[in-house]
Amino acid sequence: MKRSVISILDLSVEELDQLIATANDIIANPQKYSEKCHGKTLATLFFEPSTRTRLSFEAAMFELGGNVLGFSEAASSSAAKGESVADTAKTVSCYSNIIAMRHPKEGAPLVASMNASVPVINAGDGGHNHPTQTLADLLTIQREKGRLDHLTVGLCGDLKFGRTVHSLVEAMSRYEGVKFVFISPEELKVPSYVKQGLKDKGIAYEQTTDLEAVMPELDILYMTRVQRERFFNEEDYLRLKDSYILTPDKLIPAKKDLAILHPLPRVNEIAVAIDDDPRACYFRQVLNGKYMRMALILKLLEVK
Ligand code: CP
Repeated sequence: MKRSVISILDLSVEELDQLIATANDIIANPQKYSEKCHGKTLATLFFEPSTRTRLSFEAAMFELGGNVLGFSEAASSSAAKGESVADTAKTVSCYSNIIAMRHPKEGAPLVASMNASVPVINAGDGGHNHPTQTLADLLTIQREKGRLDHLTVGLCGDLKFGRTVHSLVEAMSRYEGVKFVFISPEELKVPSYVKQGLKDKGIAYEQTTDLEAVMPELDILYMTRVQRERFFNEEDYLRLKDSYILTPDKLIPAKKDLAILHPLPRVNEIAVAIDDDPRACYFRQVLNGKYMRMALILKLLEVK
């Protein structure tokens, strides 16, 4: 039975905890895993730009002793000639054991998973979901805070189009005692379906435009970029792009053990001066992404 991961909800809390345990074991004992995927091939089908997700998937497979093939833009694939996602998935299944797909259209990786004969991992679909970024975020929070429960999580920036936010809220809402603070301009508020999911579960959340007012209560601050590529209108993007810029003075009232995360790429949202602050976790988060993708590949390929 092939198993795909399109949404973070495709993984139970127990499975998330197992993936975190595997990633921590890979960090402690990398040599144990160096041949686990010998003879296996990962296909990376990226119809949209990426640095971290594509390269960390590829690094993950190489560090497991496997092979990688794929493309990094739609223009260099037969999608440019009009081939469907379904036909691409059927074709690439002939050459690989597992597929990671990023696509600008919401639902494209789901269509791929319904047509591929190998597992498909959603590596980001439009403004919808980005479950493997969430895996990176969860490992980072677990390693930085020592737990995933009883945390106040502030999410700041473009909460409307930021797919990493949607997946992270879905994941963390399954841990006890987590409270969310959504910080965004009015135009970029978190979508209703995400809030409805929280209401249905009776989970507390707060919405504000004022980052500085809520800073003292946060355990996690998850900054995000305003997603220029999802805007219909450049004027709106230019007006909203610098709504929040985290600078050292804004951290003065923050908790001493605040963890600052960002899925990256960063544009202006976090001043470079913060990078040396021990609370800045975003480059450790990048590395954690590779370990969680290694753990996920092992799970979906059913490698012991
Ligand atoms: N975090 C993330 O998805 O980064 P890339 O777009 O560089 O893959």
